[in-house]
Amino acid sequence: MSLPGAPDVAYRGDTLHLEGAALSELAGRFGTPLYVYSCAAMARALGGYQRALAGRDHLLCYAMKANSSLAVLQWFERRGCGFDIVSGGELERALAAGAGAGRIVFSGVGKTRSEMARALLAGVFCFNVESLGELEVLSTIATASGRVARVSLRVNPDVDAKTHPYISTGLRGNKFGIAHSSALAAFRRAARLPGIEVVGIDCHIGSQIAATEPYLEALERLLDLVEAVEAEGIWLSHVDVGGGLGITYAEETPPAAEELVARLLERIDARGHGHRRLLLEPGRSLVGNAGVLVSEVLYVKPGETKNFCIVDAAMNDLMRPAMYDAWMRIVECERGRGEPLVCDVVGPICESGDWLGRGRALAVAPGDYIAVLSAGAYAMSMASNYNTRGRAAEVMVDGDNAWLIRDRETPADLMRGEHLLPPA
Ligand code: LLP
Repeated sequence: MSLPGAPDVAYRGDTLHLEGAALSELAGRFGTPLYVYSCAAMARALGGYQRALAGRDHLLCYAMKANSSLAVLQWFERRGCGFDIVSGGELERALAAGAGAGRIVFSGVGKTRSEMARALLAGVFCFNVESLGELEVLSTIATASGRVARVSLRVNPDVDAKTHPYISTGLRGNKFGIAHSSALAAFRRAARLPGIEVVGIDCHIGSQIAATEPYLEALERLLDLVEAVEAEGIWLSHVDVGGGLGITYAEETPPAAEELVARLLERIDARGHGHRRLLLEPGRSLVGNAGVLVSEVLYVKPGETKNFCIVDAAMNDLMRPAMYDAWMRIVECERGRGEPLVCDVVGPICESGDWLGRGRALAVAPGDYIAVLSAGAYAMSMASNYNTRGRAAEVMVDGDNAWLIRDRETPADLMRGEHLLPPA
């Protein structure tokens, strides 16, 4: 039986498997903490988008901030995806994974001059510009290098995505995008600037969105603008509705990608915009449920008010619980080991905020392994080296095959690039 939100994770007998791979066996072979990703899960997630977009002019740009490991990028690149990037570092990663620059959109509210210059040189498909200031700088850089920057303006549609405040991005008070009310003037300005070619319009209203309505609302507001902009003779060849579709961590029931895209296309067609290219920037919904974080139980410590299960993964490996109070399912890699104990699952880091789960019933003893599910997105990509902890190793499984796609970081890796002071 597979587990909620993670159809490729299931017990075979008492042993937890991701596809054909026994997670405790992988943990023994590669060590812990260990991230493991399932190709079948990524294929299922991508398939939903691709089926709904088949036959339409589209570009699916995987938002690589969700998981930017090279092998993951390569996997999406081989299946025809483009990439949504937000930094010069992500650009280099995407190119290193074999991505064609012509399928890359460059998002982000604070692009630097050198990032713009590098992206222009690489020939990215489009810059998603978020302010007039950025537009002016991009124009200067493009002109100086004799290149033309294709530009989409990111509009803040002022729509409530009804998600966690830290990951809600399309509200008036957020730092993102150009206010809907000033967008028309911004398009006029963009159309007159040298070195700029206006090609599209975009928005992104938030992340872990569980409903279709906020998307439809944002789309309507974008299409209103498209019509106003084109009435002034500025032609927009694409509409980019961003990413943000949620996944099931606990009881959430987000729409399937196929359903969401079908609803969007229906609205686009109904308003006579069916000829326009549609761009999407999904991150979490492509990889979130494909990953698990496997960790070894170090100690089970009964407390005065609660019990603690101390594991070798910590907030530096998986920041979401500490940062967003996120609930992520935690299960035993081998079940049937006696009576469960209700405990907080915590890491070795010297902070009370270092927890992975609270009040969980687990039947484990030191040396056993646990798995945090739905850890494919915003997990490894947000990992840090706090407490001088090397980042975890990563493995990708496909059926019965398992490949190591990233070595565990060593102390030497962590100290590389640092310099001692001159002799005293
Ligand atoms: N496009 C833009 C411009 C974005 O800012 C984002 C995410 C995406 C696409 C992809 O959104 P997705 O489909 O993954 O929801 N660290 C947080 C999530 C931050 C999302 C930031 N922007 C978390 O762990 O929940």
